[in-house]
Amino acid sequence: MAESAAPRFVAGADHAGAPLKDALVAHLTSLGHDVRDLGTHGPESVDYPDFAHAVSRAVLEDRAAGEATFGLLVCGTGLGMSYGANRHPGIRAALCSEPWSAAMSRRHNDANVLCLGGRVVGVELAKAILEAFLEASFEGGRHARRVGKIEP
Ligand code: RB5
Repeated sequence: MAESAAPRFVAGADHAGAPLKDALVAHLTSLGHDVRDLGTHGPESVDYPDFAHAVSRAVLEDRAAGEATFGLLVCGTGLGMSYGANRHPGIRAALCSEPWSAAMSRRHNDANVLCLGGRVVGVELAKAILEAFLEASFEGGRHARRVGKIEP
């Protein structure tokens, strides 16, 4: 699978995550990433699983086609998004509130979706988490064996 310098993203959020998701979509775009924003786009109350599933399906479809697309999911805590995304075989969604775990989720777990809590982290911390996620690469080796054992 091609890991380009500026991988694609598919983003989604519920109403509680939309402001942070919008800020991060703008940030990713400014860094040269191609971002598909599946919404939501305002404060109207919506259900986070709808977006977790839509983004997860899009990530899996792109990856099946050879694109190293990542997902970005934001709800109030990030918890609901991570529960929904991780129900999809092949999705490894990492809920992170600081950069080190975000980097490790890539290096050791080959995470392909980043989940954030829009009511937990501020925009600048979220950007740092996202950049740590982007800058790290999967190390393979023994970690590939362990990742291979995640699906029950
Ligand atoms: C919405 O109020 C909130 O429950 C949701 O954004 C999320 O935090 C769920 O995990």
